[in-house]
Amino acid sequence: MLPHPRHRNIGTLLLLLIDSLKLRAMRIADPLFTINLILTTLISTLLPLKILAAEEKGERLFLDNCAECHQVDGKGIPGIYPALDANEVVSGSGVDVALVLIIGRGEMPSFRGSILPEEMAAVINYVRNAWSNSGELILAGTIESLQ
Ligand code: HEC
Repeated sequence: MLPHPRHRNIGTLLLLLIDSLKLRAMRIADPLFTINLILTTLISTLLPLKILAAEEKGERLFLDNCAECHQVDGKGIPGIYPALDANEVVSGSGVDVALVLIIGRGEMPSFRGSILPEEMAAVINYVRNAWSNSGELILAGTIESLQ
């Protein structure tokens, strides 16, 4: 005699549950799966920390090297120091900003040799994404190739 349909369903559900538990146990026992899990967790925790550290570094470099003229709020001093907030050059391309820093401009000194390429990248990425600005990131390698 066949079991009542309701009991048959419960039986199927139990089998499915046991199956999925077995699969999970197998996966956890698989060293590659475990390593993958640990790495994914590490990367997803460390990457945002790294980005945050680069942002803080860029801000510190800006305060130490640029804010005296361009001001902490990036608004500059009208007629003397241009604003870097909502500035065409700054929002244009990271390479153009890098060239201004490498060559210098008017009263502004060149930063070639006084800050490292990765510091230059960090400060450029900071000004290009501070205040109302939003721009793609530039890599230290690109700065190096420009010098
Ligand atoms: C001693 C003052 C001074 C310092 C320090 C300084 N700048 Fe400048 N900066 C200027 C002046 C003045 C200009 C405009 C030069 C000109 O066009 O003749 C300028 C221009 C610029 C421009 C081009 C803007 C435009 O509209 O042409 C950028 C970008 C810039 N500065 C970024 C920076 C960054 C980033 C730092 C720090 C790493 C920095 N500056 C440090 C004075 C300074």
